This record gives sequence, structure tokens and C-alpha cells, in this order.
Amino acid sequence: MTTITLDGHADVRDAFRQRDLKQALYDEGGVVMADCLLVLHGDDHRVRRRVENRLFRRGTFRHWEREFLHDVVRDTLAPFAAAGRADLVELGYRTIMSLTALVAGIDRPTGDAAEADALYRYAKTFSEGATLVHTTRDPDVVRAEVAAALEEFDAGFLQPSLARRRDLLARQAAGELGEADLPRDVLTGLLRHWDELGIDEDVLLRECAFYLQAGSHSTADAFTHSADEFFAWVRRDPEAAERARHDPALLQRCVHETLRLHPASPVAQRRALAPVVLRSGTEIPEGALVVLDIAAANRDPRVFDRPDVFDPLREVPSDVPRWGHAFGGGMHACIGTELAGGVPASDKTSDKTGEKAGDEAHEQVLGTVTLMLSALLAAGARPDPELPPRRDPHSSRDHFASYPVVFG
Ligand code: HEM
Repeated sequence: MTTITLDGHADVRDAFRQRDLKQALYDEGGVVMADCLLVLHGDDHRVRRRVENRLFRRGTFRHWEREFLHDVVRDTLAPFAAAGRADLVELGYRTIMSLTALVAGIDRPTGDAAEADALYRYAKTFSEGATLVHTTRDPDVVRAEVAAALEEFDAGFLQPSLARRRDLLARQAAGELGEADLPRDVLTGLLRHWDELGIDEDVLLRECAFYLQAGSHSTADAFTHSADEFFAWVRRDPEAAERARHDPALLQRCVHETLRLHPASPVAQRRALAPVVLRSGTEIPEGALVVLDIAAANRDPRVFDRPDVFDPLREVPSDVPRWGHAFGGGMHACIGTELAGGVPASDKTSDKTGEKAGDEAHEQVLGTVTLMLSALLAAGARPDPELPPRRDPHSSRDHFASYPVVFG
């Protein structure tokens, strides 16, 4: 089998946009990924994405950021800051867990720590299942753990959330409730378009599990790396870092620069359904496996000057996002880009759906990672001098397993 690796920024962008290149990274992770949005292709993908995209219209997250995201971040951080220490991996997951549960449509009836911990455990397990291709553990053991976690998650969380939504939809159909009384989440969207989508409850379970892990793992990872890069910047250039600490737009650039250097998904993979020729002239034969090396393309010196340097103040070409390809591109471009990464104030490009946005849509959205980093720094966090960060020993990806910090 032919494998073609693309590591140039332009080639990767071009490949993301090719309709004849089909998702191929998650074949190993079918236990949690089968039939999920990220692995669908062609019409199946288009129809599902249209249904789920409705939740992710520009404006939704600007509204969330104004209304409650600051509170979620502050409330999650408060007990850790009061205790004087935190592990950034745990703090990151805890903060984003409630948001991804909200997006997926998973209710949290008690809202207590045990419930958050259970979701955190599931998300970590599902994430390991999705990226089975990168595991250094016995894949069968991981698969069995994921299947057991799916069963528990189904009984404990999905079934009650499903029952509540079915009841709400029945009452809406009977005219007792209006449109505004229905939750705006993936689960409700899928139930409302059940026949059109041709799905069953197993698909529903995996889609919700996928959302839970896709949103939380990448955000927690981006948060930990952003803090790590920021702490290193403080040591190298304390004046510039001090300015960023008090300037949310600059802090957002730190996050985007971190995403460029440490994309949570370092590679994407596609299979060629037909022969493809890229603009650069690269020929991809039918059946070839195409590795889109996001991590390498994000350090392409033709696009990013001094590519290995963390420089939030760098200039980038106007048609290149500061995060490079960290949020993917083309039909599978990350649906949560705006929630996690925000929208820079000067971003005049079309949105991820390809639609041109109106003027109001260019208003800045900071995104959860920047909000989290800002709150962390405001609470006086610094690396724990006694406990150094640890890399994840069970993954070949660039992830921290633990990142202890102290406050004050
Ligand atoms: C810093 C945070 C995040 C990063 C770096 C990230 C990265 C990515 C990347 C690279 C892809 C495309 C993968 C491919 O083409 O093979 C993707 C897709 C996706 N992401 Fe994210 N993501 C983040 C946050 C989120 C959040 C918060 C959510 C939802 C709550 C989310 C939901 C999704 C979904 C549903 C897809 C599949 C889209 C499709 O197939 O049409 N992501 N993400």
C-alpha cells in the first residue's frame, strides 16, 4: 500500500479540501468512533454536519462567553486556587467537561464533583479509544476498557438525558412547549432529525461519547501546553509576557501560537478514493494512504518565520490562521474552533462552514482556552518547584500526563 506524507503548509491545506480524500485516522478506534461525524464521508457527512452545525453558528459562543463561560472557568478554578495547588491536566478537563456535556446534550442532574469526575474518566477513556492508532498499550485491553466505559456512560448519563429530551419533544409536538424551551444540543438535534439521518441508539451513544472526548481532550491539552509555553516565555521575555498577562487579545495570540506548535492532533489521515493531483503537482494514486502532518506543516518555514520559536507577536500571511492547521480544514474542519479558540478581532476570513459572516460576526470571541489561561494567571499560578510536569507514557503524541502548579 502506498503511503504519502504531506508536510508542507500549502499541501496540507489543499489535501484537507479534496473531496476524494476520505477520513482514515480512526479505523482502529471504531469501538467509539464508528459512524461518528468525524468518520462520515460524502452525503452522510454533509447531512449530519448540517444538523449539528446549527448549534455552532457564529454568535452562539459569543453569547455564551458574555453570559456564563467566565463563571464556569472561575468557579472550576476557585477550589484549586483555595487549596494552593492544581494539576493543569485535571483542571483543564474539569473546566471543559461541563461545557462539552452541555454541547453534547448530556445532563448533569446533581452537578457535583463525583459526576464531573465520572465524565472526566469516561472522556479520557473514550479519547484513548479514538486514538488507538497511537497507543503504546495492548489495543485489545484498551478496546475492552472503552466498551465497558460506553456501557456505564449509557446507563448513567445518556439514557436519562435521552428520556428527558424525548419527553420535551413530545410536549413540544403537543403544543405545550415552544421552540425556545428545547435544549440546543447535539443530542436534541439528532433526535429531531432521526429519520432523515437514519441513525440508531448505538450511533447516538458513540456520537455523544465522541463529542465528550473530542471537545475536552483537545481543549485540556491546549490549555496545559499554553500555560507551559507562557511560563517559559515569562522566563525568556518577562516584559512581553507581563504585557500579555493583562491583555486578553495578546493572551489569545499566545494560545493560537501554542496550538500551532503543539496541535492536539499532530497528524490527520485520509484514504484516496480516486487519483488526486494537488496544486503543487503532487500525485496521489487511488487507494493511497495520505498522512497530513499537521505538526510539521505548522512549522513550515515558507509560511512561519523562525518556525520553532514561540512568538505570539509574529506576523503571519493574511490567509493563514495563527494556529496553522491545528483545527483541521475542509469538510471535517473542527466544529468547535470558535468555542475553543475564539475569533480574533481582526479575523475577516469566511467562517469554517465556508459562509461569509456579517460585520457583527467579526467581534472578538476569546474562546475557552484563553479564558482558562487568563483566569489561571490572574490566580497567580506558576509551575510547582517540587513536582516537574510529566509526559504521557501511554501515547506517542505530545501530551502531558500531569502538570502540577502552585498558586500565589
Ligand atoms: C483546542 C481545542 C480543539 C482542537 C485543537 C481541535 C482539533 C480538531 C481537528 C484537527 C479536527 C479535524 C480532524 C480531521 O480532519 O481528521 C477536529 C474536528 C472536530 N472537532 Fe475539534 N478541536 C478542538 C475543540 C473542539 C471542541 C470544543 C469541540 C466540541 C465541543 C470539537 C468538536 C469537533 C468535531 C465534532 C469535529 C468533527 C467535525 C467533522 O468531522 O465535520 N472540537 N477538531
